[in-house]
Amino acid sequence: MTSAPPLGVYIHWPYCARICPYCDFNVFKHRRDDEPTALACAIVADLESQRAFTGPRELISVFLGGGTPSLMEPAWASEIVAAARRLWTATPELEVTLEANPTDAEAQRFAAFADAGVNRLSLGLQSLDDQALTFLGRNHDAATAIRATEAANRAFPRLSVDLIYARPGQTPGNWGDELARALDLGAEHISPYQLTIEAGTAFDRAVRRGRFVPPDAETGAELFETTQRVLEAAGFDAYEVSNHARGAAARSRHNLVYWQGHDYVGVGPGAHGRISVEGVRQATHAAAKPADYIAKVAETGVGFASRDLLNPREAAQERLLSGLRITDGVPLSDVAALGIAPDLIARLVALGLLVDDPQRLRATPAGRLVLDRLTSELAT
Ligand SMILES: C[S@@+](CC[C@H](N)C(=O)[O-])C[C@H]1O[C@@H](n2cnc3c(N)ncnc32)[C@H](O)[C@@H]1O
Ligand code: SF4
Repeated sequence: MTSAPPLGVYIHWPYCARICPYCDFNVFKHRRDDEPTALACAIVADLESQRAFTGPRELISVFLGGGTPSLMEPAWASEIVAAARRLWTATPELEVTLEANPTDAEAQRFAAFADAGVNRLSLGLQSLDDQALTFLGRNHDAATAIRATEAANRAFPRLSVDLIYARPGQTPGNWGDELARALDLGAEHISPYQLTIEAGTAFDRAVRRGRFVPPDAETGAELFETTQRVLEAAGFDAYEVSNHARGAAARSRHNLVYWQGHDYVGVGPGAHGRISVEGVRQATHAAAKPADYIAKVAETGVGFASRDLLNPREAAQERLLSGLRITDGVPLSDVAALGIAPDLIARLVALGLLVDDPQRLRATPAGRLVLDRLTSELAT
């Protein structure tokens, strides 16, 4: 056991079979040359170097995210997970998550990923409607997605599914039906994300050319309310804006590392990390392109291109932004550096945006609908 705060490890695997028109994550077309192998080696070397910054820690989560890490060789996932276990002290309930796309080719490798130490799969279903999947530019249909979910349930003890809603033409009625079908798949965790038109994506260009019109804010709010109602009725707790779990044990420990302001090492192209050393929070950020990241690790041992010290106010601002996303909120003592006036809190409580709680700042359901406004009022 160590006295320093527990740690999560985030690994970014940036390759995808195809780039979806809505996605603005740090992604690159999957390659068949030597680069992915070089990247896997660089990731392990980066983890080893970053151990010097964190010191000994309890490891509570490893998250293989992307991109599409289910395209990675399971043997590499095994090496990466083994390295994290070797470098830090794994807790008995260590959560090891892999993000996967629901194609048959990937589902065939789920058992190998389970052997590599993955115990939680996060499957990007996005929809159970073939037309919607075509609109979203996905390379799977609903039947394939259902088969992949069945394979995931056989291979892993824990399953989360991602869905995208607020698609053009969606109504609360047909979205409620689709959610009900998703519930039948037996996942313990559901992340329904409202479609966001991100700048610079193919969808952004399509909207600007008038090819489709995303739902307006009022329809978006109705669809959000449908999501909350259907999932709550099915026994899911909306512990975060877009994350619903069947009971506390089903919550994503990895995401809670972010939202509760704990430390995490971020490795892989474009990955962010947050490590507290002697009470000072440091923000790391890796080079975005795989070739630059690999070169950086070869030159300096670590993959991050920058390491910035956050001052107490910046650290508290981050803590506020992430903490208000979860129903548990954030302890007032964690954001003391912001000097939030008690009468501002009282006013936001009176407006129904914050829960009346002397110890913590907690957004009400209405407050979570206007989180940007809430955080900017509290943080400035
Ligand atoms: C980093 S992606 C990785 C998942 C995996 N590659 C896949 O696509 O199935 C994580 C999730 O973010 C969500 N997402 C990405 N871009 C989005 C957008 N513009 N609007 C809403 N959700 C989005 C999708 O649900 C996706 O499954
Ligand atoms: S949504 Fe997933 S598969 Fe599509 S580009 Fe983004 S990370 Fe890749």
